[in-house]
Amino acid sequence: MSEKSFETLYREWQEKTEELLQKYPEQKNRFETLSGIGIERVYVPDGASRRESERIGLPGEYPYTRGIRPTMYRSRHWTMRQYAGFGSAEETNRRFRYLLEQGQTGLSVAFDLPTQIGYDSDDPMSAGEVGKVGVAIDSLADMETLLQGIPLDRVSTSMTINAPAAVLLAMVIAVGEKQGIPSHLLTGTIQNDILKEYIARGTYIFPPQPSMRLITDIFAFCGEHVPRWNTISISGYHIREAGSTAVQEVAFTLANGIAYVEAAVKAGLEVDRFAPRLSFFFNAHNHFFEEVAKFRAARRLWARIMKERFGAQDPRSMQLRFHTQTGGSTLTAQQPDNNVVRVTLQALSAVLGGTQSLHTNARDEALALPTEESARIALRTQQILAHESGVTDTVDPLGGSWFVESLTDAIEAEAEAYLERIDEMGGAVAAVEQGYMQREIQQAALETQRKIESGGEVVVGLNRYRLEKETEPELYRVNPKLAQKQVVALQDLRKSRDSVQVEACLERLKQGAAGDANLMPLILDAVRTYATVGEICHCLREVFGEYQPMV
Ligand code: 3HC
Repeated sequence: MSEKSFETLYREWQEKTEELLQKYPEQKNRFETLSGIGIERVYVPDGASRRESERIGLPGEYPYTRGIRPTMYRSRHWTMRQYAGFGSAEETNRRFRYLLEQGQTGLSVAFDLPTQIGYDSDDPMSAGEVGKVGVAIDSLADMETLLQGIPLDRVSTSMTINAPAAVLLAMVIAVGEKQGIPSHLLTGTIQNDILKEYIARGTYIFPPQPSMRLITDIFAFCGEHVPRWNTISISGYHIREAGSTAVQEVAFTLANGIAYVEAAVKAGLEVDRFAPRLSFFFNAHNHFFEEVAKFRAARRLWARIMKERFGAQDPRSMQLRFHTQTGGSTLTAQQPDNNVVRVTLQALSAVLGGTQSLHTNARDEALALPTEESARIALRTQQILAHESGVTDTVDPLGGSWFVESLTDAIEAEAEAYLERIDEMGGAVAAVEQGYMQREIQQAALETQRKIESGGEVVVGLNRYRLEKETEPELYRVNPKLAQKQVVALQDLRKSRDSVQVEACLERLKQGAAGDANLMPLILDAVRTYATVGEICHCLREVFGEYQPMV
C-alpha cells in the first residue's frame, strides 16, 4: 500500500501520462458521446475508500488491474490479428494480403499438424494432414513464400508453433536476412508454450526437460538478437477450449508462466532481461462479465507474482500483455449466423478486459476453415467495436462497477488458491506429470456437458430454439491437389540444395543437443541451408526422445 493519498497518486498519474502522450498521442483531441458529452480518459472513485482505490489502481500503474497503459485504446487500438493458414504458403500469403488490405493490423499464422509436430510433408506420418488445418511449411523456401511482400519490421507476425518453435523462428530470421531486415528489427510472437500442449492441445514432441531447455534457449537468444520479438505466448485459450472454467484458465496459465520464469532464472537469465517479452493468450468465452473480470484478475495476479515472487524491478516485467481469441468451442454448427452475435459479445468482453491483440472467430468455423466472406465479417466485427461502439473512448469503462470489481477479486482469490495447490505439488511441470490439471479440466468439461445435455445451460439453436431444417452455408474447401504439389516441391528442394552442407549442420546440431549449447544458432545455420522442419526435429528426437504421456 502506498503512503500517498489516492488523490496524490491520481495527480501524479495525470502528470506522467501527459509526458507519455508525446510518444503515443491520443487518437482524438476530444472524446465525446454522440450527444457531445465529453468523455474523461479514466473515471476514478470520488472519495472512495483508499484501500478500494489502491487495490484497483490506475491504468498503466502497478498492479495494472485497469490496463497496462495509461491511455490504452485512446492512443492505439488493439491489434486486429486474424488467425489464418491453410494449404500452401502461396495460398496463405494471398489470404494474409487480403486481410491486410481489409484493415487487419497484425498477422497470425496457422500451421498444419505435420509442421506443428515436426514432420515433413512427404513423411508417411503426414498423410492426409498436409495443408489441412494450417499452412504446410517444410523449409525456408516455404517461409519465404509465406511472408513474401510482408514488411516484417512493420507488421508483427504471430506464429502458433510450439514444439518446433525454434525452427520456425529461425526461418523468420532467415527470411528477414533475405529481405534486408536485421533480426533486431523483427517484431512478432511465437507461441512456444509446451506445457499447455501436454495439458490440453497435444502438439508436443519432446519430453518436458529438453522442451523447457529449447524455450529458455529462445529467451536468451532473442534477448540478445531479436529484442522486439515476444518469445512466448503463454496460453489459456486451449485450456479453456478443453473445458476448463474461467478460474482454471487463469490459474493454470499463470502456473505455466511461473514454471517458464523459474526455468529461465534457473538457466541463469536475469528476470528483467526476458520477462518484458513474455506474452499471454486467453479465451474470450461466454458469461460476459466473468470474462471481463477474468482478464482484469489475471493482469493483477501476474503483476503481483512478478513483483513479489520473482523480484522484478522493470514495470514491463509486471505488465501482462495478451492476445485474445473468441471461444471456438462456443460456436455452433446450427444456425451459423448466430455465431456473429456470440463473437461480438465475446470480442467486447476482451476489449473491456484490456486485450492488446484480438482474433474474432468466423461464423462458419464450427463447420470448416472460414471462407473469405466469413473472415471479413469477423474482422469487421472488431472494426465496428473499435470505431462505432465508443467503448474505446475511456480506459477500463467497467472499472469501479461493484459487480465487476467483486468478480475480479473472486477470480483472483480462487486462482491464487489453485496456484498454492500447484506449488505444493512442486509446480506446473510436476502437476502436469501427475495429470492434476488435466483431471481438473476433464471434471469441469463433464459438468458443463451435463448442463448442456440437461438444458440447464442454454445454447441457442443447439438445445433450444432449434430449426426443423438447417441449410448448410457455402464452406471453404482445401484444394486436395495442394498436398501433392507440396510434396513434389519438397523433393525438388532436396535435389537442388547443398546436401553436404545440410548434413554438416544437422550433425553439429545433434552434437549441440547432446551438450548444453544454446541451440538457436545451430538451428539457424541448418535452416539457412534449407534443412527441413522434419530433418531438424528428427535430429533432436534422436537426442531428446519423444514425450510419452503418463495419463
Ligand atoms: N500507449 C503506449 N504504447 C502503446 C500503446 C499505448 N496506448 N498501445 C500500443 N503501444 C505500443 C506497444 O508498447 C508496442 O510497442 P513495442 O513493441 O515497442 O513494445 C506496440 O505499440 C504494439 O503494441 P502491442 O505490443 O500491445 O501489440 P502487439 O499486437 O504487437 O502484441 C502481444 C500483442 C499480445 C504482446 C503479442 O504477443 C501478440 O501479438 N500475440 C499474438 C498471439 C497470437 O496471435 N496467437 C494466436 C494463437 S491461435 C491459437 O493458438 C488457436 C488455435 O490453436 C486454434
